Amino acid sequence: MNEENFIPTHSHKEVANGEVKARCSSNIALVKYWGKYDFQLPANPSISYTLTNSFTETSITFKKSNDFSVELYLDNQFQEKFSSKIYTYFLSLKRFLPFIDSYSYSIYTKNSFPHSSGIASSASGFGALAKCLMEMSEMLGEITTEEFKLMKASFLARMGSGSACRSIYSGLAIWGKNSDIPSSSDLYAVSFPFEIAPIFKEMQDTILLVDEGQKQVSSTVGHSLMNGHPYADLRFKEASKNLSDMSQVLQSGDLEQFGKIVEHEALSLHAMMMTSSPAYILFKPNTLAILDKIWKFRRESNTHLYFTLDAGANVHLLYPEKEKGLIFSFIKNDLLKYTENGNLILDKVIF
Ligand code: PMV
Repeated sequence: MNEENFIPTHSHKEVANGEVKARCSSNIALVKYWGKYDFQLPANPSISYTLTNSFTETSITFKKSNDFSVELYLDNQFQEKFSSKIYTYFLSLKRFLPFIDSYSYSIYTKNSFPHSSGIASSASGFGALAKCLMEMSEMLGEITTEEFKLMKASFLARMGSGSACRSIYSGLAIWGKNSDIPSSSDLYAVSFPFEIAPIFKEMQDTILLVDEGQKQVSSTVGHSLMNGHPYADLRFKEASKNLSDMSQVLQSGDLEQFGKIVEHEALSLHAMMMTSSPAYILFKPNTLAILDKIWKFRRESNTHLYFTLDAGANVHLLYPEKEKGLIFSFIKNDLLKYTENGNLILDKVIF
């Protein structure tokens, strides 16, 4: 598939007005996307779990109009900055959704997780928007199959926020070309195409909210600092190899190897930030305290508790459901004190 495949071949129907709705979950990457080229194309492939409890719900009402406009409401509050961001995003989709600027839009959106939690809402947010737009396109006559609809929603979501393209699928999603994943593409994400070992279908993700504030360096800036980064080439190659290895691990059920790759990926992501120019650190002292405790607990308890990190200070704790009892006591007794307000999100992969 190439970009041209996403351009509708027929003209759309005239529909005066309508409403579309969608829900989209957030995701947590196991192998991280960090660095991009051209228009939102990934410098290396990535794979993520789509989550159950962290999601965005969006509804769009649209009206035929000569005056293209976008009004976005988050929790029923009008958002000027987001409205203009989405206006620009919608215009960027014109080639693939030719009707886009023939309507005025009111967008109502809400997240299941608190706005101030430091959990990025861009993946679930753009995922939900893209799904809504595909509903609308279908309503206006675009002929699709369920499979193509997901693929195009993923393609459109990617143009808003890279990692959003993986959120379109439940379970595990891969984004970025990798020779061991035949269907993979830089343009959109695909569902993990192989049989997944049962243990990886019931992974828990408990998110410790270490810093609920706005991060000092945005992902957009972070990605751009990978241009000319001294370790960029090595990082992109290693991430691709980690993805191939992770694919094997997910099929074989090797939890230890899973943890090894996941933690290495999280630390590599932050190592890239620390060695960028200018350098920056999104860790907080409490992030490191948590990692240290996890390593100690793992040595002593023989459990399979692993951490991963986003571009921020919060820690995602990944572990199999059957170890939930022991691990959750540890989280409550030993880790909760490192969170900003005793806040955590109990999540798990959705299949
Ligand atoms: O999708 P963006 O541009 O917000 O970048 C997300 C990057 C990471 O979350 C750090 C890694 C990933 O693959 O999700």
